[in-house]
Amino acid sequence: MRHQLVLVIDFGGQYTQLIVRRVRELGCYSEMVPWTKAAERLRESRPSAVILSGGPRSVLEEGAPNLDFSLIKGVPTLGICYGLQLMAHRLGGRVVSASEKEYGRRHLTGVRASSLVDGLANDQVWMSHGDQVEESPSGFVTTAQTDTCRVASFENRDERQYGVQFHPEVSHTPDGRRILRRFLFDVAGLDGDWTSQNFISDEIHRIRERVGDEQVLCAVSGGVDSSVMAALLTQAIGARAVCVFVDHGLLRHREAEQVIETFSKTFHPHLVVIRAADRFFSALKGVTEPETKRKTIGAEFVRCFEEHADELKGCRFLAQGTLYPDVIESGSPTAAKIKTHHNVGGLPDWMRMEVIEPLKWLFKDEVREVGRQLGLPDDVVDREPFPGPGLAVRILGEVTPDRVRITQEADWIFRTEILKHGLQKGIWQSYAALLDVRSVGVMGDERTYENPIVLRAVQSEDAMTAQAYPFPFEFLEHVCNRIVNEVQGVNRVLYDLTSKPPATIEWE
Ligand code: XMP
Repeated sequence: MRHQLVLVIDFGGQYTQLIVRRVRELGCYSEMVPWTKAAERLRESRPSAVILSGGPRSVLEEGAPNLDFSLIKGVPTLGICYGLQLMAHRLGGRVVSASEKEYGRRHLTGVRASSLVDGLANDQVWMSHGDQVEESPSGFVTTAQTDTCRVASFENRDERQYGVQFHPEVSHTPDGRRILRRFLFDVAGLDGDWTSQNFISDEIHRIRERVGDEQVLCAVSGGVDSSVMAALLTQAIGARAVCVFVDHGLLRHREAEQVIETFSKTFHPHLVVIRAADRFFSALKGVTEPETKRKTIGAEFVRCFEEHADELKGCRFLAQGTLYPDVIESGSPTAAKIKTHHNVGGLPDWMRMEVIEPLKWLFKDEVREVGRQLGLPDDVVDREPFPGPGLAVRILGEVTPDRVRITQEADWIFRTEILKHGLQKGIWQSYAALLDVRSVGVMGDERTYENPIVLRAVQSEDAMTAQAYPFPFEFLEHVCNRIVNEVQGVNRVLYDLTSKPPATIEWE
């Protein structure tokens, strides 16, 4: 494990990941751990600082998320919202259920000199809580209030324990970054040397140690994550990083050719290409349930890789471009399992190869930065994310070659038009999905009874949340006309306006 870890203990707060991101932006390595696993983690290794997240529960409820504070004795600690309340509750203060929920912008008053929150350029903070600290524990001083909150922040300098009722990690607390910076550097004395360059050298060292003289099969999809992973492995172990690209027939129009060309032109001349569309279509025959689809595809991928590894006379390792959000979303005990991202939860038990996931602690923008540092070209680094199971998760119902054809054609029109109109900037992902309902239409005096296409384009920072892209109406109308006129098998086009949450970016 890396030294100087800032461990963020997650009590189920909606901003916990944002805390991790903010800490990393300040140059300190940070990971989050659900509160249920915190004790185990803290016994394994001692972090350099701890941040306790917010959370939806009340510390006063029976069975509320908890922490054994003796495990972090002496470790600089910052409690945020629920974290502050838990500190107060467990260390001898008093928390009460407030008559009114405090939500939104507030201003700090009565700020105590030379405290963590002293001397901010802007006293506006973002609150979102029901309970409040009524009395700080002994040894703590209250360092700020708001008009409705008696303890907006407190601290016990001797024990290096700090708490804020508001959220310094959100942009609605304009000086939140300064508070975090003070905590990390002035209180905890961290070095702030977490940079992509250090990540690369650490990771190369780790990969070499783990792999020894063995070969590693790098599963590449042409997407940013697996390309960066492959570049990192190649830098670590040279030609023993065997890059394999499976064309499962579920890619976008002309995508396979583009991937092969980019790889051979840029950094890896020996890309092994496995053409496997037929076997994926056979495996997917009759499969309509989204999770079964993902698992079927995951298993088929592994079969392809293992067969290839056998041909290579043994590749003990399989490297994948799994990212931190995949790890989190694939089911931590506090986050409900939304989908099996095939490169995390969907690997079959019978798989023989050991998995290497060098990027699994990084967010997408960090991966892009690592890619740039490794010298990957912009068109690889800035590519739109594309899911491993490909169009299968954008084709509702059964995946057949003809339904793939329809989706590819509609998708191609949509994305070509986006580029033609110069709208790509600011779009995180854009695609066409095919539904499995049919509706009646009329074309050239004939009745039609076909599937609709849904267009989806979202803005996002890290795929954890997303909003629909606000296209001009005329643009959507134009794309719709082209699709119904040019793509055989489609008689209606819809635009998906739903944000994430409550929807997800992919339809399945
Ligand atoms: P959702 O649909 O969960 O997607 O909002 C979040 C991001 O993850 C991508 N995605 C995947 N990536 N394997 C991947 O490598 C997968 O199985 C997978 N499923 C979704 C999705 O495109 C979006 O960027």
